[in-house]
Amino acid sequence: MTAESPIPGSINLRPATLADAPLLRRWDEQPHVVASDPNDDWDWENELARTPEWREQLIAELNGEPIGFLQIIDPAREDSHYWGEVGPGFRAIDIWIGDASNLGRGYGTAIMRRAIDRCFADKNVRTILLDPLIENVRAHRFYQRLGFRPVGLRRFGQDNCLVHQLEREYWKRGKE
Ligand SMILES: CC(C)(COP(=O)(O)OP(=O)(O)OC[C@H]1O[C@@H](n2cnc3c(N)ncnc32)[C@H](O)[C@@H]1OP(=O)(O)O)[C@@H](O)C(=O)NCCC(=O)NCCS
Repeated sequence: MTAESPIPGSINLRPATLADAPLLRRWDEQPHVVASDPNDDWDWENELARTPEWREQLIAELNGEPIGFLQIIDPAREDSHYWGEVGPGFRAIDIWIGDASNLGRGYGTAIMRRAIDRCFADKNVRTILLDPLIENVRAHRFYQRLGFRPVGLRRFGQDNCLVHQLEREYWKRGKE
């Protein structure tokens, strides 16, 4: 696990709203975002208009400027049952940085650390799940540096993924 990345400024997470739809659609067209998630339509206009209890859709801001998107779901209650039959005690995260000029500057690490703390703030959450594409080896490295470990290959729709997970105890131990 890495120490907190030194980044120039402060990261803030705020709820995404319908007003963010144009920005999210623009980010969706960036090659690095397409490469990481080529088959999903996030249907922003509809999804941002609703706030189910099992989901948080968040905009990550650096010094007040939006730089990335984060989704945290409770896979047991998520309505499409994307993760299949999952018991309680899990969260699943999706993340991307919007503009390529903001990649590789430590922002993703800072955002993920916030996101992980946010998930484990609920004492019932034991495990965080991620579903990077098999070929997204840079994302694997990024997640593994944070303490996630690969747990197996799994196909979701048209996507072949290398599922990663992080256990609460491992994360808390790394922070001691
Ligand atoms: C993965 C991601 C959120 C990491 O955020 P970041 O701010 O770029 O990451 P940091 O600067 O904190 O850490 C750098 C690491 O991020 C990863 N990374 C950087 N650019 C990346 C890219 N285009 N795609 C995937 N991972 C990338 C690499 O592991 C990199 O380390 P490396 O330089 O040793 O290869 C960001 O790169 C991104 O949005 N990538 C495209 C979308 C994506 O792959 N999301 C994950 C889908 S599961």
